[in-house]
Amino acid sequence: MQPIEEIRVRLDGDMQQLESLVAGGSAPAGASGAQEGDKALSKRFEELKVKYTGKKGEISGLLRSMGTLAPEARPEFGKLVNELRDYAEAKFAALQAKIQEAEIASSLSGSTLDATLPGYRIPAGSLHPMTQVREEIISFFQGLGFELALAPEVDNDWYNFEALNIPPDHPSRDMHDTFYVDDKVVLRTHTSNVQVHYMETHRDQPIRIIAPGFVYRVDNDATHSPMFQQVECLVVDKDISFAHLKGTLFLWARHMFGAETTMRFRPSYFPFTEPSAEMDVSCYFCKGTGTVPTGSGTLAPAGGAPGQPCRTCKTTGWIEIGGCGSVDPNVFGKVGWDPEKYTGFAFGFGIDRITMLKYGIPDISHLTRNDNRFLRQF
Ligand code: DAH
Repeated sequence: MQPIEEIRVRLDGDMQQLESLVAGGSAPAGASGAQEGDKALSKRFEELKVKYTGKKGEISGLLRSMGTLAPEARPEFGKLVNELRDYAEAKFAALQAKIQEAEIASSLSGSTLDATLPGYRIPAGSLHPMTQVREEIISFFQGLGFELALAPEVDNDWYNFEALNIPPDHPSRDMHDTFYVDDKVVLRTHTSNVQVHYMETHRDQPIRIIAPGFVYRVDNDATHSPMFQQVECLVVDKDISFAHLKGTLFLWARHMFGAETTMRFRPSYFPFTEPSAEMDVSCYFCKGTGTVPTGSGTLAPAGGAPGQPCRTCKTTGWIEIGGCGSVDPNVFGKVGWDPEKYTGFAFGFGIDRITMLKYGIPDISHLTRNDNRFLRQF
């Protein structure tokens, strides 16, 4: 029995030594020193584990030596060796757990990583001002029961011009305004093409649609961009009059620009409406007076300094919003609807323009420059 006791005593001694190394920190402080120390400790641990409990280790050696014992002594000897193996394995398992804990603690304290620091904040984005204005317009009209409609940005001449009563020699077909893909295909110059698509596919039924989208024109300066957004509206039914158009736009203008907003219609011409008008709203910077009021607060920088002529409306007191009118009977004829039975109204406004007016943005290129200093303001 002596060799068993002897191994147990040595095992206890070795384990104690290792344990005190783990408890006291295995190496001098500092990232690389601590890691070196951890490695040495694990290596020593593995060596001892193999030495005592490995296949060719001391405890297995004891079992192998059993043949040299008297047969009657063997059962007792075997039992004691097995107890020793269980004892050794439990010790190694406990020590391994302690070593792992110590390794984690030292890698946290020794490295430059400070797990207690707050993480990086990823700044949240926000909707582009034009997107906000577009969605505000759409949701207002959806609230009135209008349906959202869309039409192609690359379209046939028929939809962009011909069916809208724009004859082949009309100035808006001029190469200087229109991007031609080929003789018969264009990048749409306005969202009015949606009127033709929708009337062709929804025959003989009341129509109430709101249709935003991108449009293209050969144009590029401080207030024009070759690609911009419009929003189109079309209402068709029996007995729709210009008064319905006025009432609808009045509600919308007050929603969009404030409860004191007034509006006016100036006679105009569009081939697809008769009569046609330009709609203006009262300038909300100067309240229609042409002079920036005192106490106009944060709005003042965009309109001009208090008491100065209003820059937003160029002192006229009015802001142009866009074109509108009653659907021309010729358009009904082109799409195969009976102009004797149906009447309607339509309008088409520039979303870029409304955004610039609403927020007092002086240059249209801000809208597409993607400068965070600008975008963060919305
Ligand atoms: N499509 C016209 C343009 O881009 C705007 C327009 C005017 C649309 C009158 C309409 C309308 O629906 O009735 O200049």
